[in-house]
Amino acid sequence: MILRNTIANGQLLLLLMLLYTSEYLCSGKTVSTEPLAVALPEPRAYLPDAQNLDFVYHDHEELTRFLRATSARYPNLTALYSIGKSIQGRDLWVMVVSSSPYEHMVGKPDVKYVGNIHGNEPVGREMLLHLIQYFVSSYNTDQYVKWLLDNTRIHILPTMNPDGYAVSKEGTCDGGQGRYNARGFDLNRNFPDYFKQNNKRGQPETDAVKDWISKIQFVLSGSLHGGALVASYPYDNTPNSRICRSSALCAMFQTYSAAPSLTPDDDVFKHLSLVYARNHAKMSRGVACKSATPAFENGITNGAAWYPLTGGMQDYNYVWYGCMEITLEISCCKFPPAYELKKYWEDNQLSLIKFLAEAHRGVQGFVFDPAGMPIERASIKIKGRDVGFQTTKYGEFWRILLPGYYKAEVFAEGYAPREVEFVIVEQHPTLLNVTLQASKRVEGVGAGGPSFYRPMQAPQHYRPGAPPYAAAASNDNGILSTISNGLNSLYSNIFG
Ligand SMILES: *[C@@H]1O[C@H](CO)[C@@H](O)[C@H](O)[C@H]1NC(C)=O
Ligand SMILES: *[C@@H]1O[C@H](CO)[C@@H](O)[C@H](O)[C@H]1NC(C)=O
Ligand SMILES: [Zn+2]
Repeated sequence: MILRNTIANGQLLLLLMLLYTSEYLCSGKTVSTEPLAVALPEPRAYLPDAQNLDFVYHDHEELTRFLRATSARYPNLTALYSIGKSIQGRDLWVMVVSSSPYEHMVGKPDVKYVGNIHGNEPVGREMLLHLIQYFVSSYNTDQYVKWLLDNTRIHILPTMNPDGYAVSKEGTCDGGQGRYNARGFDLNRNFPDYFKQNNKRGQPETDAVKDWISKIQFVLSGSLHGGALVASYPYDNTPNSRICRSSALCAMFQTYSAAPSLTPDDDVFKHLSLVYARNHAKMSRGVACKSATPAFENGITNGAAWYPLTGGMQDYNYVWYGCMEITLEISCCKFPPAYELKKYWEDNQLSLIKFLAEAHRGVQGFVFDPAGMPIERASIKIKGRDVGFQTTKYGEFWRILLPGYYKAEVFAEGYAPREVEFVIVEQHPTLLNVTLQASKRVEGVGAGGPSFYRPMQAPQHYRPGAPPYAAAASNDNGILSTISNGLNSLYSNIFG
């Protein structure tokens, strides 16, 4: 009240009100929403009931039995489906946990966890079974869990590599037995790659996941591994990894392999990784697993800065679908003895749940045509972060963003492109509905849109074999200059 007495302060107040209520209607329509997760009490520490799910490793039959029994017991909170079968015919089960398990809730995000992509890293597989049990048994008693399940559809694939698991050995901390699928393929090297052509033959397990994520627009994802204690974020690959061709070059390259390969959403990926690490009992301390392995500051790392790899799942999720996936290495020992599982659950429980709540940070909304009908596959690009993402068939979109001022470009074939400004605050997501007007141009529909903005190609049109800088990166003259040139061209050229 007092502030309004002076013009200057009045203007300041008005500006603050505009910013913080997000009703700064430049060309889109934004409103603030009720505070969500931040206003809730922390999820409670909870040990799953040993009668329903003990802290032991579950083989495929036991895992299947647990999932079936849980979906029968909690029909209003869970749905069980299979996205395909492994080479040896084991189902790749996905359990949805949500207050709307059978149907996508329009306007609310779908998120996922994937466990056990490496068959001999099964701590995540067990953690995900316990997470399911924790969710269903806490829904009526824990406000945080209830809020999360009421506002999110959580898809949990406890094992992506059941065949590998079947030949793994409890107590084996290192090594490769059981890492691969039944044909010997490393599934986390089996996805199309943005940076390099991946010639590995697509495996049924990978194909099932690709098909799955093409049908559901996941906003956020975690892939659970073992063998280290760190949250690792994209990119896993770099345009420069091809310079390491001979062992002499590779030895030299080791020195420089600390060069990170950063996405335009690096701030968000670091934040998501920190949410996991800081809510974990010890990950953020960044203590090395053993003396010969790296210590990670704050328990997080860029994937390529740790070691570059081609065909990884997280880069694929992000580049093809805008899904923010990170890799969670949750046990120094790949396959620790079962008696340690309870401890792993206690260490990871809070991280696993708070990470998922991050899907509610940032901007979300709808794209409509002038008649108010949703526009499917409209492309949206946040200015300054050139990775496109698309609306669902209901016209919905989500983007996880940290507090700040942003501009989005919205484009759909046959409509005039539009630029929309909005503000993100810490306390709640920003809701943003955008109406596109039909394009005035009579000719040229389908020509790829206006020249100032080329939206990211739909995944099926994408040609992994032809990144724009492939030629430059194959030049061996001067490793350091290649690395820095590569990173520069990454920023300027990668998404054209
Ligand atoms: C599921 O929801 C329906 C409708 O709300 C209710 O009648 C039923 O009792 C619930 N079932 C269980 C097992 O909670
Ligand atoms: C945006 O559109 C959705 C779906 O029609 C609607 O429920 C919501 O109230 C709208 N929000 C605003 C701010 O107009
Ligand atoms: Zn792994």
